[in-house]
Amino acid sequence: MLNSVLSTLNVQTVLIGLVVVLVVYKLRQRWKYNLPPGPFCWPLIGSYEAAQATFLHEVFEKYTKKYGPVFTVSLGPFQMVVLNDINSVTEALVKSKADFANRPFFHSVDGFTEGGKNIAFANYTPTWKLHRKIAGKALRQYMFGSHFEEVLHESMNKCLPLMAKETGAFNPENYIDLMVFNILNAVCFGKSVELDDPEFVTFMKIDHELTEMTGKGFVEDMFPIMYKIWTTKKYRTVTKLADELVSIVKKKFNEHDKTFNSDKIRDFTDSLILARKEAEQEENEEMLSQLTDTHLRQTLMDIFNAGIDTSRITLYFAVRYMAGLPDIQSKVQEEIDRVVGKDRLPTVKDRENLSYTEATLHEVMRLGTVVPVGLPHSTMCDTRVGGYDVPKDTVVMINHWALHHDPNYWKDVKKFDPTRYLDENGKLGMKPESWLPFSAGRRVCLGEIVAKPELHLIFATIMQRFNITLPEGTNPELELGGSSSNTQPAPFKIIAKDRKNT
Ligand code: HEM
Ligand SMILES: *[C@@H]1O[C@H](CO)[C@@H](O)[C@H](O)[C@H]1NC(C)=O
Ligand SMILES: *[C@@H]1O[C@H](CO)[C@@H](O)[C@H](O)[C@H]1NC(C)=O
Repeated sequence: MLNSVLSTLNVQTVLIGLVVVLVVYKLRQRWKYNLPPGPFCWPLIGSYEAAQATFLHEVFEKYTKKYGPVFTVSLGPFQMVVLNDINSVTEALVKSKADFANRPFFHSVDGFTEGGKNIAFANYTPTWKLHRKIAGKALRQYMFGSHFEEVLHESMNKCLPLMAKETGAFNPENYIDLMVFNILNAVCFGKSVELDDPEFVTFMKIDHELTEMTGKGFVEDMFPIMYKIWTTKKYRTVTKLADELVSIVKKKFNEHDKTFNSDKIRDFTDSLILARKEAEQEENEEMLSQLTDTHLRQTLMDIFNAGIDTSRITLYFAVRYMAGLPDIQSKVQEEIDRVVGKDRLPTVKDRENLSYTEATLHEVMRLGTVVPVGLPHSTMCDTRVGGYDVPKDTVVMINHWALHHDPNYWKDVKKFDPTRYLDENGKLGMKPESWLPFSAGRRVCLGEIVAKPELHLIFATIMQRFNITLPEGTNPELELGGSSSNTQPAPFKIIAKDRKNT
């Protein structure tokens, strides 16, 4: 009895103590630094409004109106600075060099990155720089050859007939998922596999489950002490799935390593091994010895983690927008019919002559910003942005959604209008200043050179083949679903009419 009273007392004392320490710490910080202004935040809970929001970007829009484009807010125990316009984003990510190039640490990420040996979540260190350089070189080398188009066509030829079998209204997500996963799997590990290949099915299933479970984050990351005491069932399940995924990638990587032949580069994994070998001639030996096979293999995890969800959700948005915008869809189809015709699939080279199609995709990526608040950055040193101080180790968020909806840069913000990206000759013009889906600076999306042709070819191929409409009675306006970290269209159905048989 006494014991339990004492222990509750203790818990209370400890909690009150903790709150006092936090408040004092915050006041001291406010006094020492000229931090960006922001809403009232409770210790440990942060902004109640933000914690409750379905979409953070909506709350951030409100805060921007009140506090300006650079503000401070806390989510749970994490205090962060949010950047909401292109000026502050460019200042932080480009003009301030590497000041904003670190990532915050999350325990949950450590597992599937085998201790932070990947690109997307690792800090800005010399090893990371070398890793990114080698991976970038390998990606360019792979994209330069003809493999990409081949595997893409092969995958589309397997997936499109499946979709063509649908006669009524259906949800296209499973088909899009299959296309994207099959293509990226083929990019990484060679030939496009059969859709019922058991290894492929398992791989895709684990990847899907992981995405679904990690989407909402972990309580453990809010209160890291939990890792030492007790972890949730969800966390343990995810760890197990992540281990399985790592071991599949390990197996595939090792097979490649054994059969590697520099005269016969089969896929991106081969390009990666080659780029690592070539680096032996140029790089400092000691530096290179830090970059292990685990790092190299983790590049493939990076591609799956950063590439699949972004690609598939962009395509959900594209299909959903086209279903609700028949006039724009017809223009896209008219362009494809004119440039490509109906007898062959669109190629990488066609892209330069498919400006309207590309512009449509750009507008999809603006209005349907798939990573509305980007990936979190962290400051490497005391620095500044927008006239305010930002102390070392502050989490910094990039609000891409705000950039894409900024009324100072976009006329008639909500209107879907591909002509924003076209010049007077109907060709793709200069990139609009506040269009930044891939971010910028040291941490700019590594996969942009893959994502752009990939999305373009998949989208053009779907548009070439199908006339897409919404079932009767559906509101043509797109409704937003998904979560704060990954917005997507709310679940929807389409009717796809095969244009081949008319
Ligand atoms: C619609 C497609 C995509 C979008 C909108 C997108 C967007 C982004 C964004 C916003 C970031 C965070 C940048 C930052 O920290 O400021 C990022 C990082 C990254 N993306 Fe993408 N991405 C896409 C597709 C891809 C693909 C297909 C790949 C791989 C082939 C990829 C690989 C990566 C990697 C490795 C990073 C981490 C870079 C780093 O931390 O240095 N992404 N991407
Ligand atoms: C694009 O169009 C131009 C002008 O019609 C043509 O000369 C060129 O060959 C086309 N490019 C491709 C890859 O078809
Ligand atoms: C596709 O849709 C457009 C406009 O919605 C229509 O004019 C055209 O006939 C349709 N084509 C086919 C093959 O259904």
